[in-house]
Amino acid sequence: MEKRRAVVTATGSYFPPKIVPNSFFEGYLDTNDEWIRTRTGISERHYVEKGVASSDLAVEACKRLLKKRGIGPEEIDGIVFGTVTPDMMYPSSACLLQDKLGATNAYGFDLSAGCCGFVFSYTTGAMMVESGRYDKVLVVGADVCTTFLDMNDRNTCILFGDGAGAVLLEPSGKDEGMLDTIQHVDGSGGKFLYMAGGGSLNPTSAETVEQNLHTVHQEGREVFKHAIMKMADVAVEVVEKNGFSLEDVDLFVPHQANIRIIESVAKRMKLPKEKVIINIDKFGNTTAATIPSCLDQAVETGRLKKGDLVVIASFGAGFTWGSALIRW
Ligand code: UT7
Repeated sequence: MEKRRAVVTATGSYFPPKIVPNSFFEGYLDTNDEWIRTRTGISERHYVEKGVASSDLAVEACKRLLKKRGIGPEEIDGIVFGTVTPDMMYPSSACLLQDKLGATNAYGFDLSAGCCGFVFSYTTGAMMVESGRYDKVLVVGADVCTTFLDMNDRNTCILFGDGAGAVLLEPSGKDEGMLDTIQHVDGSGGKFLYMAGGGSLNPTSAETVEQNLHTVHQEGREVFKHAIMKMADVAVEVVEKNGFSLEDVDLFVPHQANIRIIESVAKRMKLPKEKVIINIDKFGNTTAATIPSCLDQAVETGRLKKGDLVVIASFGAGFTWGSALIRW
């Protein structure tokens, strides 16, 4: 008997309407459009208005997904919500999304894995479906990255944007869907990318605000180096371990942190440009939303078709990194 596998049956994405071009930062920081575009690949990003949270972006992405699939929210039985910017400490954004969406028969939880929020959530959701216990699992990646931006730190504030993406996983008896997945963490890399305030170690206080502990701290060069090596290695590993060659890959959907990282990884994988999905130019790094929004755009533009061999891969805070091999 064929193994019960998890296939993506619908996708959705949503970005808040406010667009912030690179010229916005030129107005008050020692930076410029040319530096940002050539060093990161970003031209613009989207920001939420005050009061809009991760679950609000997620609910829009999920509504679009449900409409495409032609089912009601009550059919969903699981929600895995990848995010590092939940609406609040608790309840989880999965609970808030469940309520806003009207997914009355779903249970769900948030998954915190930095920029691997979607890859880890997708893997978890797929295993829930493969187990036989769940039939319609929503996997969401949504982040309001403006939550953690220090708008006076030119090293980081230019990089991030807000957005959401989602996929629906359902069972299949055929040899399709998630074929394999490899995930890693290495906590010794935590010191290179973190936000220290607001948790149990440094609960929010006047001092933590004064010390600027509620914004992202990143040692860009260190993260950059690890991201290229680890993302390429794990993506190659998941392909070759399953008896495929890199030439068999139809589409590579990498996390969108920096165009130079994406190009280096694609080069190490010997993939031509046509096989790599990029949306960092328009949206910046949206953390957990990068890969599901790219998948949605690839489906919508016809670049991703049924039967394609797809590799998703990410690297982020933790360090976390991972890759999944998917027969679409
Ligand atoms: O998604 C989670 C994982 N995150 C990542 O994967 C991000 C990985 N890192 C990166 O993408 C890159 O390291 C950055 C885009 C963050 C930085 O690019 P870089 O080429 O590594 O620059 P750098 O940090 O080596 O800095 C080079 C110079 C520095 O000036 P000095 O010290 O040489 O005088 C920076 O201060 O560029 C300066 N710089 C800027 N200049 C103009 C840094 N940010 C800016 C800026 N505008 N916005």
